[in-house]
Amino acid sequence: MPYPIRLAGDAVVLRDFTMDDVDDALKIVGDDRVTTWLSFDSRDRQGTQAMLEGAISRAQEEPRNEYYLAIVAPPSDHVIGFCRIGLSGVRAGKLGYAVAASEWGKGYATDAARTMIDFGFRTLGLHRISAAIGPDNFASIKLIERLGFTREGVLRDHVHTNGTWRDSALFSLLDEEWDQAQTPTTIKA
Ligand SMILES: CC(C)(COP(=O)(O)OP(=O)(O)OC[C@H]1O[C@@H](n2cnc3c(N)ncnc32)[C@H](O)[C@@H]1OP(=O)(O)O)[C@@H](O)C(=O)NCCC(=O)NCCS
Repeated sequence: MPYPIRLAGDAVVLRDFTMDDVDDALKIVGDDRVTTWLSFDSRDRQGTQAMLEGAISRAQEEPRNEYYLAIVAPPSDHVIGFCRIGLSGVRAGKLGYAVAASEWGKGYATDAARTMIDFGFRTLGLHRISAAIGPDNFASIKLIERLGFTREGVLRDHVHTNGTWRDSALFSLLDEEWDQAQTPTTIKA
């Protein structure tokens, strides 16, 4: 797999991070409105820098087991979110995503997740993609169900965030269920 990679969606591009992205990334992972739904607490500038250093370093490992990509909306190259697939088990991947609060509701995360899932099944040859989502994260649940995922059950006390345990609802999608003939993303930007 070439590095860095660049995956084109309808309205967004997923690309590898660079250290020039720290300020933009901080606006996402340093914002409690976003991280309250993630598995870690908000990060400061130093923590964001360390996070990107880790992602950039892991991206260059062979074999590559993680695709932790920045979401940008061309023509801008500013990071407005991230989308990640971490490989685990046999042809299986775990999906995660987040978008800056200022950009919510414009269809960006749906387009990014669809692009990443398509890459996972068609290019990486995955059989199963799963997503663990807070049971009351309705925006994320709406997004994942729209992409055809099936709810499998509940992971009890799955993450510890903001000083407390939180369950996750587990969703999955299999390669034979992935149908490219889905409704195109509507971008409301
Ligand atoms: C979840 C998240 C990535 C969605 O990003 P986004 O770019 O706004 O997503 P989209 O616009 O593609 O789609 C979100 C959908 O949820 C809907 N939605 C938003 N808030 C909602 C709510 N409280 N209840 C129900 N639906 C909601 C939107 O209306 C939209 O549906 P629509 O297109 O039919 O109107 C974003 O809210 C986010 O970053 N949240 C914090 C981090 C997070 O939760 N990550 C996922 C962890 S599993």
